[in-house]
Amino acid sequence: MEYLISLYGQLPHNHTSTTAAASGGFLFPSPFLALDQISFSIQGALSLLCAVTWLCAAAGQDALSTAGPGPGPGPGAAQVAHDPIVWPPSELPYYGRSPPVYPSPPANGSSPLWAAAHARAHNLTAQLTLPELLNLTRGFPGPCVGNTGAVPRLSIPSLCFYDGPSGIRGQEFVSAFPAGIHVAATFDHDLLYRYGAALGAEFRGRGIHVALGPVAGPLGRVARGGRNWEGLSNDPYLAGQGLGAITRGMQDAGVIATPKHFLLNEQESRRRWEQGVGEAVSSNVDDRALHELYVFPFMNALREGAGAVMCSYQRANHSYACQNSKLLNGVLKTELGFEGFVVSDWDGQMSGVASANAGLDVVMPGAGFWGEKLGEAVRNGSVVEERVKDMATRVLAAWFLLRQDEGFPPTTIWPTDEPRGEELVDVQADHAELIHEIGAAGTVLVKNVNATLPFGKHTRFLCVYGYDAVVKAAPWDNPDRYSGGYDVNFGWNTFNGTMVTAGGSGGNTPGYVVSPFQALQERVARDKGILRWDFASENPTTRYANADACLVFINAYASESFDRPSLQDDPSDRLVLNVAAMCANTIVVVHSAGIRTVDAWVLHPNVTAVLFAGLPGQESGHSLVSLLYGEISPSGRLPYTVAKKEADYASLLNSSVSDTWFPDSDFAEGLYIDYRAFDRDGIEPRFEFGFGLSYTKFAYERLEVALVVTASESVGEYPDPSVAVIQGGHPELWDAVAVVKCTIVNTGDREGTEVAQLYVGVPGDDTPVRQLRGFRRTRLLGPGQTSELEFELTRRDLSVWDVVAQQWRLRRGEYRVWVGASSRDLRLNGTLVVS
Ligand code: BGC
Repeated sequence: MEYLISLYGQLPHNHTSTTAAASGGFLFPSPFLALDQISFSIQGALSLLCAVTWLCAAAGQDALSTAGPGPGPGPGAAQVAHDPIVWPPSELPYYGRSPPVYPSPPANGSSPLWAAAHARAHNLTAQLTLPELLNLTRGFPGPCVGNTGAVPRLSIPSLCFYDGPSGIRGQEFVSAFPAGIHVAATFDHDLLYRYGAALGAEFRGRGIHVALGPVAGPLGRVARGGRNWEGLSNDPYLAGQGLGAITRGMQDAGVIATPKHFLLNEQESRRRWEQGVGEAVSSNVDDRALHELYVFPFMNALREGAGAVMCSYQRANHSYACQNSKLLNGVLKTELGFEGFVVSDWDGQMSGVASANAGLDVVMPGAGFWGEKLGEAVRNGSVVEERVKDMATRVLAAWFLLRQDEGFPPTTIWPTDEPRGEELVDVQADHAELIHEIGAAGTVLVKNVNATLPFGKHTRFLCVYGYDAVVKAAPWDNPDRYSGGYDVNFGWNTFNGTMVTAGGSGGNTPGYVVSPFQALQERVARDKGILRWDFASENPTTRYANADACLVFINAYASESFDRPSLQDDPSDRLVLNVAAMCANTIVVVHSAGIRTVDAWVLHPNVTAVLFAGLPGQESGHSLVSLLYGEISPSGRLPYTVAKKEADYASLLNSSVSDTWFPDSDFAEGLYIDYRAFDRDGIEPRFEFGFGLSYTKFAYERLEVALVVTASESVGEYPDPSVAVIQGGHPELWDAVAVVKCTIVNTGDREGTEVAQLYVGVPGDDTPVRQLRGFRRTRLLGPGQTSELEFELTRRDLSVWDVVAQQWRLRRGEYRVWVGASSRDLRLNGTLVVS
């Protein structure tokens, strides 16, 4: 069967629109079922057709621009001049690989949380004209990163969308929080929540309706992924707990959270369509890994009431994520009952009709393929008006859900290169204290021999080395973004100056940066001690024979737009080795945007302590000094595996790079990413997932594992099909099926906080050896003090995704249960039988 394709989507043959005809719609043999997979043909064809300028204007060429608001090129991302007139290869071989799910399910407030908001929103959309509805679904120029259209006659304001996940970027008098990966390393539900609440308060204070975060996509499948640090962890459970808690915190503060990027945006390389180069990479994943790894964290955010979700740039099983009906209509809006709105990633819309019918609700930052053209599609029947009403209703429902219709602060976003002309709105409050606390709690001590740390009162003479100890002397390359302007050195591997956040739209804009050296100065001045330094040399030669310790600061940079060239760099490794060669008490501090391999020096006998200090935000130095001097005992845990060598990540070291028009990234490893792969293959990591030392010691005692009473009477294999889905998925997925208890005792001689982790081995030979399914960070325990911990295992935590039943399935059999201090330091074990 043949269909005529319009430039903004697909129209069945008998629905030829004037636009389709005028734009030279072209014939395409297509199974009707693969509706959402069509637009890349359209893109390819456009690169040819756009030689005719009137046609490009008609097609909404702005949506095709590859020059989005991203931070610019990275290594290997150099813009090559390509001949724009390229006839793309046939897309037919890729058809049908992402199941079609139509029509798009309208939201009606069936989740109790959403009922009132949807009732009000339905009421309001009923009063809107088609042009007004259309204006709510698209972006317009304005002060924010994205601005919807207003309907003044009904007091609907333009909604302000703004980055990013770790603070308002590009503004003054806002805070620079630790990055997602850093707060995840705290393994602390309360800190994750407070992080979200403080972020939310800043966004709301500046009149930002929609905050573009938090992030769980990328999850972190690829070790060198450029944006893994914006997310929370490559473990879906940790990422999910974090995404849920941060979402709740942000929304409790009155801001619409936008968990992103949905879904499978696991690499930066070829993340987007490029004119003359080809389509975006396609993340090809099986249904089980899709659910058990990548969808999993988003479930928590939805469960907590997320008002928006951002779809991603790349293709998923060959269909662009922002028009992928399986992901949007199917997984998000049907399976998970999402009642808020889906916003495109910036310039990530690839078609008009197809994206509308596949479940996209808002296009940003401009009209993309919508605006008046979507109106035309409604008039000619390609998109039913109810779909457009549903888009607008979802937007307004989120606005009502967060009570933004009453007393919402005016939007105060200003360019930094012009006088403000208005009264300043300072939203920092006392967030510096929380940033200090999270900065310390997310720092991971991985080596500490001879009780090097904490420093005692006799440690008064310190030498400080490395480019990462201080802020760089020159101003930021991009005055709006610390680290977003690529102040890099050493071939894009490192940041020139102390690194507190990383690059791209997920970075932030600190009012000030307390560098490690500054905080050490403050402390040493108080102690009337001695500091000596060399931030410039790779091979410092001046010896200070009386120094108590040498601190070396290095970092590992990453950014949106490119994947990391390496997990280490030679100049930094040489610097550490050179310092270690002359200093018997060398302490290495690594600020890193993700995994950093350390085998070049970590076993050196003179390297006595190593801290993974992550991306701690503006209070960096204060956080670190609190740990070095023992005011706080380290309790951060690695949210990923640090391998001995890069090759140990095997096929998951690098993103998939290919020169083809339709590049593929096959997720052939299924469930086995990071520690799941290391455990299966028996690879000894340098530092395993969940690892981190303390200044004290803890014993784990008295494990109890029990089915909860209701579950022990009847625990069905599947959730009850007669119970309706609400936002977050089938409600029974969140029921507790089992409870695990244990006791933690501080057996050392200092106070400290322990992070106990619960791992589960699900029966069957097709499941990972063990998977994180619970964690608890104890309160501060003095020597001899104990803490009783309780972990709840929900139906989802124990289930596998059954691809035949298309449902989470609680297998019958014996589940193994471990509680320990890391994924390999398992102190207690038991079993749970589900029959
Ligand atoms: C990024 C998003 C970001 C948006 C707006 C895109 O390039 O992928 O994460 O929110 O830009 O700045």
